[in-house]
Amino acid sequence: MVQAKARTYLKSKTTTMSYTIAITGKGGVGKTTITGLIINRLLANGHQPVLAVDADPNSCLHSVLGVKVESTVGRIREEARTEASKGKVTGVAKQQLLEMKIAECLVEAKDFDMIAMGRPEGPGCYCYANNVLKDVIQKLSASYPYVVIDNEAGLENLSRRIVQKVDLLVMVADPSKNGIETIRRLHKLAFEMNVDFKKLWIFINRVRTGKIPDEAAYLKNETEADHIIMLPDNHEIAVFSEKGNPVSDLSAGNEVVALMDKFIKELF
Ligand SMILES: Nc1ncnc2c1ncn2[C@@H]1O[C@H](COP(=O)(O)OP(=O)(O)O)[C@@H](O)[C@H]1O
Ligand SMILES: [Mg+2]
Repeated sequence: MVQAKARTYLKSKTTTMSYTIAITGKGGVGKTTITGLIINRLLANGHQPVLAVDADPNSCLHSVLGVKVESTVGRIREEARTEASKGKVTGVAKQQLLEMKIAECLVEAKDFDMIAMGRPEGPGCYCYANNVLKDVIQKLSASYPYVVIDNEAGLENLSRRIVQKVDLLVMVADPSKNGIETIRRLHKLAFEMNVDFKKLWIFINRVRTGKIPDEAAYLKNETEADHIIMLPDNHEIAVFSEKGNPVSDLSAGNEVVALMDKFIKELF
């Protein structure tokens, strides 16, 4: 059933202008958790269907979203590369086979679908497979009104134009001086790489002092961010993470969920 649906998406001629949200930041700062919460609040406010893209090979967006991943685009890409090098399949058939296999990686859940990129490339030439990947991601994205991408630490996916346009760029940092400095660097990099984004939200995550750190207060002017959002270190989220529970099961009164809800409501 998943496959049938995925194939329909890929064959679809009608393209929707999707609203794309990309989450970036250093490893371990809370990107995946925040991605999960953004998706959860989009759905709770009737913004669906959402395509969740796990573009971080070290990530576990699926467990934050409470779904299982059978295969990744990375694995398919590697298989395609091996087959191509043996000269087994060529031309249009090769392209179609790869597209179909990538579509089969799509995990279908209620109101959202998820696709995981998997491992980065090994040695050898991936140009062909990468181009198809870019193509498929674009085609897939066009079938969803909302696309949310959990990225790896840098801005590679955005700079390689695998993700073309971003409506909301989300940068996540911890409250340390180094964390804030990373945001400055990321912001500079986004401009240098001509990453095309319309809005910018900066999350200072896991704050334990109850207030935005002094250093972070300057960020709004420096980056012209639409919001600097402070998220407290939350006991329930920590417990959930230890158990591997999805964010959709967090209690209705959770302060981080409530904060995210407020900002998502304001976005549309
Ligand atoms: N606001 C928060 N309060 C408590 N724990 C959090 C919060 N945000 C993230 N965490 C925890 O921090 C750890 C790293 O978060 P994660 O989202 O995996 O980071 P990243 O994707 O940037 O590597 C996880 O165990 C997660 O549950
Ligand atoms: Mg992550």
